[in-house]
Amino acid sequence: MQLNTLHMVHEFLERHVRPGAFCIDATAGKGRDAALLCRLAGPSGRVLAFDIQEEAVRQTRALLAVEGLAAQVILDSHAHMEQYAEPETVDCVVFNLGRLPGGDPRIFTQADSSVAAIRAGLRLLRPGGVMAIALYYGKGNGYSEKNAVSAYLETLDDRMFSVLRCDWANRRGDPPMPIFIWKER
Ligand SMILES: C[S@@+](CC[C@H](N)C(=O)[O-])C[C@H]1O[C@@H](n2cnc3c(N)ncnc32)[C@H](O)[C@@H]1O
Repeated sequence: MQLNTLHMVHEFLERHVRPGAFCIDATAGKGRDAALLCRLAGPSGRVLAFDIQEEAVRQTRALLAVEGLAAQVILDSHAHMEQYAEPETVDCVVFNLGRLPGGDPRIFTQADSSVAAIRAGLRLLRPGGVMAIALYYGKGNGYSEKNAVSAYLETLDDRMFSVLRCDWANRRGDPPMPIFIWKER
């Protein structure tokens, strides 16, 4: 099977998330990232998952129940995540920016709230914590979110964060970008 952005993000999470970790899935969707975080963080860990679509919250809770996993699934914008966690306590934040496959086609992540949420997530990360972003763009979503997120990441102080922004040089269309961020210790 051809390597894709989701594989890259999941390999990164598997490498970095340890038992007992406190993790945030900023875009719960169908719950696949939240389920992986729950498995990696284990019973001693804690996972918060956000989505603004009731259908996504329902699907995420259903997947977690089927898999016997537990997370706090919150119907709220990821831009408000600082209301649910203390600064510098989170080990890992993951974003899957785009739309919910099969969900309401009018609802997709937006430039302003995504940049606000990434900024909030970086404040919540503990030193040594990590963030992964799968950035879907093009088609209905357009390019404004991709451009805004990219421009914001370029402003981050390199003494505080290392940002790896990847693109698939030989893929057709608008393949999602994997982005990885490390908060310095
Ligand atoms: C590409 S899907 C996420 C897929 C998911 N990670 C999975 O594993 O199935 C993007 C999700 O972001 C959600 N979303 C859009 N705007 C949001 C916001 N401001 N806060 C939280 N979630 C949002 C959408 O409702 C959608 O479910």
